[in-house]
Amino acid sequence: MTTTATFARNQWYVAAYSREVGRELLGRTILGEPIVFYRTESGAAVALADRCVHRRYPLSESRLDGDTIVCGYHGFTYDRSGSCVFVPGQSRVPRTARVPSYPVVEQDSFVWVWIGDRDEADPALIPRAPWLADPAYTTVSGMEPLAARYSLLVDNLMDLSHETYLHGGYIGTPEVANTPITTEVDEENEVIYVSRHMADAECPSFYARSTGIEGRITRWQDIEYHPPCLYLLHSRIAPVGVLPNDDGTDPDAFHVEVVYAITPETEHSTHDFWAVARDFALDDEEVSAFLAESNRTVVLQDVTALNILERVIEGERDGYQELSINIDTGGLAARRFLKRMIERGERGAAARPVAVRS
Ligand code: FES
Ligand SMILES: [Fe+2]
Repeated sequence: MTTTATFARNQWYVAAYSREVGRELLGRTILGEPIVFYRTESGAAVALADRCVHRRYPLSESRLDGDTIVCGYHGFTYDRSGSCVFVPGQSRVPRTARVPSYPVVEQDSFVWVWIGDRDEADPALIPRAPWLADPAYTTVSGMEPLAARYSLLVDNLMDLSHETYLHGGYIGTPEVANTPITTEVDEENEVIYVSRHMADAECPSFYARSTGIEGRITRWQDIEYHPPCLYLLHSRIAPVGVLPNDDGTDPDAFHVEVVYAITPETEHSTHDFWAVARDFALDDEEVSAFLAESNRTVVLQDVTALNILERVIEGERDGYQELSINIDTGGLAARRFLKRMIERGERGAAARPVAVRS
């Protein structure tokens, strides 16, 4: 498989929402690797390669028996570590009968998976999105399949000026594209910050209907991207001129934490996880339904555009040169980090003896 050239393997990726992983087998391809997810009877999430060692039958098409998976083709049975504990017709289970298992961590409503070298899978490296599991916030969320390479979604999210054009009437207003950004790059921790503070802006329906603000707003967009997977947009909405207090408290503003997890499925497709957490109208189901529907619509507008771009890129001649401008500084920094992460993974892989994965 040639995935190493395209993906940063030694990184944590969101594989699913915790709510998606249960006692039904869930098959999902991450970084080109088919994986089956399930939950043991005691509730632990498990991730195993989704391919029976016997004749490759997908384990996700099979069935759970307690904490083991019984292959739906000839009955090879695997425990939660991927070891085969039963084969039909003979008592001796071949020593090599096992499928790879993957480290998983559940945090902030997500199931994170590590595809690369097990020894480096440090859960402390997983970036946080605490709002998604915080009772002080109400969250709506979903996942849309994207038939485009993940780098196109990174580009898309790092430059929100497209809201004005692609999402006009939903979250886009003229001020988004017209207001300059500031970009900060934390080289050491590999985090990129892109901010756009609009002092006096039109209120798009997304925020007008959810917050109830009438008239113009002060609108702040503060992006925090933790490559490769986690993208946070801290969105602050307030009536024009209302600013946070000197001590940092901000009681008169509305805060929305927009979270994306960008997980490559294959070289040309991506899992586009999105979540919108708010600190107001916590119990208002109408607001929840409105934000869920609106955000999904916005995500699908991006999906449509990026699916078109993927086909454009696949069909173009070698050496086509894009033109970048000021709005692209965050996206360009992201590309640089991703390239570095991919190279680091490659170097690591080259330095190690070829190991039999187990
Ligand atoms: S393919 Fe799984 S038991 Fe034969
Ligand atoms: Fe968008």
